[in-house]
Amino acid sequence: MNDDLIEWYGSGEKSAIGAPMRVNQRKAMSRDAEKILAAQRAVEFVRDGQLVGLGTGSTAAHAIRILGKRVEAGLSIQGVPTSNATEQLAREVGIELVSLNQVDEIDITIDGADEVDPQFNMIKGGGGALTREKLVAVASKKRVIAVDQSKLVDRLGARFPIPVEVLPFGFRVVARALDSLGCHPKIREINGTPFVTDNMNWIVDCASGPVDDPLLLEQEIKQISGVVECGLFARLADVLVIACRDDVTVLERGASRNSVAVWNQLSGARGGKSV
Ligand code: 5RP
Repeated sequence: MNDDLIEWYGSGEKSAIGAPMRVNQRKAMSRDAEKILAAQRAVEFVRDGQLVGLGTGSTAAHAIRILGKRVEAGLSIQGVPTSNATEQLAREVGIELVSLNQVDEIDITIDGADEVDPQFNMIKGGGGALTREKLVAVASKKRVIAVDQSKLVDRLGARFPIPVEVLPFGFRVVARALDSLGCHPKIREINGTPFVTDNMNWIVDCASGPVDDPLLLEQEIKQISGVVECGLFARLADVLVIACRDDVTVLERGASRNSVAVWNQLSGARGGKSV
């Protein structure tokens, strides 16, 4: 990360949109800078006294570090982490933590995503934390998803496989059932051995191609015995914070703004095709 962005982290409470950001005016932002910008804007939704779901992945990590700065400056929150990595980072930056089983409801969750469609459906689980991420999302009153513009797709599955967490016992039975749904399953591996989740399970990445009905496919995958959780998150985003170069677009579910038009505008900005 360059010095200007380190300076930006240091800006704590400053608005990503309102603050004078020399670096953003001088040059096009890298994808990581877009993630920081989206995280900074997403964190603005957090209010004093709230219980905050803390997502997993690089964008969520940016949000956690920014929240840590706000805590240092006096913000009082408690966090519910979605992974061991997030738990460790949140502790490092001074966020007080509680477990999901200690609470009834979470006020707001900040997380990232691997793909998002204009209907606010998502693919998540690139970091392997999909099961805890989904539980925290389901328990949350407001789900704020921060993404860089590369995550926008017209249909889920176009680029990113759907991660599915499975019990290692009998994973081949699960893989065959996934295959029969038209998903082409591949065990996620690191250095030739299966990737193990925080829940001690495995991840099967399913190349599905573009998904017509994310809610239906999510339900079908979840019905397979041995599936712990599916990385399709149908209707589990309330607010999308999308960073494209040095701009941030905020979309709220149910608001009048036409998300397809925003998708087209942002894919135009990055030279992609329209929805
Ligand atoms: C982790 C996730 C992440 O939110 C997703 O992979 C996006 O990650 P990043 O912000 O690093 O692009 O679902 O399980």
